Amino acid sequence: MRLSTIGCGYLGAVHAACMAELGHEVIGLDVDQGKVDKLARGESPFHEPGFPEVLARNVESGRLRFTTDPTEIADCQIHFIGVGTPQMQGRYAADMTYVDAAIETVLTHAHPQGERPVLIAGKSTVPVGTAERIAGRCAASGKDIAVAWNPEFLREGFAVQDTLHPDRIVYGLPEDREVGAQLRDILDECYAQLLSEDIPRLLTNYPTAELVKVAANSFLATKISFINAMAELCDATGADVTKLAEAIGHDDRIGKKFLRAGIGFGGGCLPKDIRAFMARAGELGVDQALTFLREVDAINLRRRETAVDMAADLFGGRLVGRKVAVLGAAFKPDSDDLRDSPALDIATRLWARGADVVITDPAAGDALRRARPDLHVVDTVEQAVKNADVVMVLTEWKHFTELDPEEMRPRVREAHIIDGRNVLDPKAWQQAGWHYQGMGRGVSTW
Ligand code: UDX
Repeated sequence: MRLSTIGCGYLGAVHAACMAELGHEVIGLDVDQGKVDKLARGESPFHEPGFPEVLARNVESGRLRFTTDPTEIADCQIHFIGVGTPQMQGRYAADMTYVDAAIETVLTHAHPQGERPVLIAGKSTVPVGTAERIAGRCAASGKDIAVAWNPEFLREGFAVQDTLHPDRIVYGLPEDREVGAQLRDILDECYAQLLSEDIPRLLTNYPTAELVKVAANSFLATKISFINAMAELCDATGADVTKLAEAIGHDDRIGKKFLRAGIGFGGGCLPKDIRAFMARAGELGVDQALTFLREVDAINLRRRETAVDMAADLFGGRLVGRKVAVLGAAFKPDSDDLRDSPALDIATRLWARGADVVITDPAAGDALRRARPDLHVVDTVEQAVKNADVVMVLTEWKHFTELDPEEMRPRVREAHIIDGRNVLDPKAWQQAGWHYQGMGRGVSTW
C-alpha cells in the first residue's frame, strides 16, 4: 500500500519506518526541513533503541521517503496523523492547531480515486469528540475522504517493538456500518502482518477509541501516583515502599508493573494527557468524574519538591554553595526526551535554591545544552560527582544503576546519595560508607 504519515516527530517517524518495515511504501511529511533532511539521510533525530536500524534499512530500500512537499502525498491510500497535541500555554487543554493543519493538508492534496475512500487514520492523542469533528470537516470538503481513529500506545525506549508487536490494535470507526466496514478492511490490509500474529483488534465507535488512549494513560499515571502516595506514608513510618510494591504486586489483580515509586512521571504524554482529559471533561460537564486526576497530578508534582527538600535537609535546609551532582536529565532511561522531565525540574529547583548543580546524562546531554544553556552540563559521571556534597540519581539509566559505590566514594566531598528512582542497592552503598536515602525507602535490616 502507499501510505503517508503527517508529522515526523517521535510518533510519526517511528510509525512511518515501521510501516515501511511491513513492506508498504511510505512518505513522511513534516514542515521542519532540518528534521526531514536528517530522516531522509537515514539519521534519527532522537535517541530510540532499534529505530536507527529500521529507519536506515527502509530509507535505503527506497520504501521510506521524507518530504516537506505536501503534493507528494497525493496518491496515498491512508494518511496517518501523527502530529503533536501539546498542552496549551497556561491552560490544561490540548493545542489542536497541528492536528487541524494536518487535516487541511490532506484535504487539499489527497486525490481519492477508485472504489474505496481515502482514509485519514488519526494516531495522535486527542480530546474525545475530535474524530467526529474531523469527519464533519471531511464530509464538507466534498471529497471521498473518511476518518478512523487508530490510537498509538507506544512507549519511548520501546517504540519499534511496541509498533511492530502491539498489545492490541483499536479502530474507532464511523457509525455508518457500510463505510465503517470499508475503513476496517483498509486498516486490516495495512496491518495484515501484525494481525496474523493474533494481536487483539478491537472495533469501536469514535469516542471509545479516543477515550481508550486517555483512559489507559490516566490509569498508568494513577498507579504511579498511588505508589508515590504510599511512599509518603512509608517515609512517615519507616516502611519500605519497594517491598510494599512487591508484596501488593503479587496479587494479579494489582500487578507489579508501574508501581515504581520515586520522583514521579514525566514525558511528552502522561502529564499533558491527564490535564487535557480533565479539561475536556470540564467542557463535557462531567468534570467531577476526573477530579481524582487533580490529586494524581498534585502527588506527582509533590515528589519533585520532596526530592529537593531531601537534599536541602542534609545541610540544615540551605543549599547555597553546595555542589549537587545530578545523574540523569531525560524523563526516563533510553531516551533523550526532556519534555516535562522530573529530573530536569528537580535540577532547576536545586539551582533556584542556590545549589551548584552539575548534570550528566548519557543521551540527553546535547539536547540539554541547547535547551538550557544556563545549566552546567558535563559528559561523564566522574566530572559530575567530583567534589560533590550530594549525588542524586534521577533517571535510572543502566549506566547509573551499575555504578560502583566503592569506586565513587573518594571522588566526592561528602558521601550522600539520593536515589530518586529506588534503583540502587542501599546496603552496598551503606557498606561503602555512603549515607543512602531512597524515596519512601525506610532503611531496614530485612
Ligand atoms: C507513556 C505510556 O506508557 C504509553 O503507553 C503512551 O503511548 C505514551 O505515554 P512514555 O511516556 O514513553 O509512555 O513513558 P512510560 O514508560 O509510560 O513512563 C512515563 C513516566 O512514568 C516516566 O517518567 C517514568 O519514569 C515514570 N514511571 C513509570 C514511574 O515513575 N514509575 C513507574 O512505575 C513507571
